[in-house]
Amino acid sequence: MNDFIAALPKAELHLHIEGSFEPELMFEIAQRNQIEIPYKTIDEVKKAYQFSCLQDFLDIYYAGAGVLIHEQDFYDLAMAYYQKCYENNVIHTEIMFDPQTHTERGIAFETVINGLQKARLEAKEKWGINSLFIMSYLRHLSEESAFETLKQSLPYKDLITSVGLDSSEMGNPPIKFKNVFEASVKEGYIPVAHAGEEGPTEYIWEAIDVLKVARIDHGNRCLEDENLVNEIVKRDLALTVCPLSNLELRNTDVMTNHPLKKLLDKGIKATVNSDDPAYFGGYMNANFVAVQEALNLSKEDILTLVKNSFNYSFATYEQKKIYL
Ligand code: ADE
Ligand code: ZN
Repeated sequence: MNDFIAALPKAELHLHIEGSFEPELMFEIAQRNQIEIPYKTIDEVKKAYQFSCLQDFLDIYYAGAGVLIHEQDFYDLAMAYYQKCYENNVIHTEIMFDPQTHTERGIAFETVINGLQKARLEAKEKWGINSLFIMSYLRHLSEESAFETLKQSLPYKDLITSVGLDSSEMGNPPIKFKNVFEASVKEGYIPVAHAGEEGPTEYIWEAIDVLKVARIDHGNRCLEDENLVNEIVKRDLALTVCPLSNLELRNTDVMTNHPLKKLLDKGIKATVNSDDPAYFGGYMNANFVAVQEALNLSKEDILTLVKNSFNYSFATYEQKKIYL
């Protein structure tokens, strides 16, 4: 089964590039930029990666991203992820990046996007990997700050496909970003949002009714509301589910209780993704293997999940015909 999973060409729809920052590269870049990090060894870093909730993780994730300064750093970060795509047979990926994590520290939007774009072109050339970018607004910051980010993105609009919403979910409901999502859609960006990862079902309703998302990131908690499940099925919205993330952030107590199979059985178009693989212990194949083993998924289930990812990707119709 593991060989079957590894050999399948796959698409990834939920990946934070800052969450693919492996400790080894973090050390290298920190040293290069002469920035102190609070760890002396890789082992110390790995020990720090024990989370009891989303906020626990985010605090460490933002601190790690703080060593990224130059275009070369963003390029190196993205190339390391594309290398993992190649190793995991991921041929299409939709990469989220958090501009505000960097612009808040005085790094120019241009520095971030230029580094990522350089890597994207090289990964396409070297490994044939197709990718697109999702610019994610940080929900713990204000809508005004998201508007500022939207403005900064406009000269690079052609490089960005979609806008997302991530960071601390509790207390930051989707409705807080109603206006900036409307403005983003007017600019041609496709809206997605994290909802129902830790947050209640009301946040998923808001993501679909107010932000009018084309896909829901996580969305696991929709199972608590039967009307919501029916609505997600009716509106044909896919969920980007992240099994190892859910386990590491304690949104699932043990993998055998993971809701993925239930979601599929309800008719929801679920997909498997790695979210922040450097922090949660595995890339795409590891995520598939973990849920397959825990939930005893069949080859048919795996094929359904993989096909969902291609079908519900933001690839063009022509590109999807090639993939499928
Ligand atoms: N940013 C990076 N990973 C995230 C996650 N799993 N949830 C919310 N924001 C994030
Ligand atoms: Zn995420």
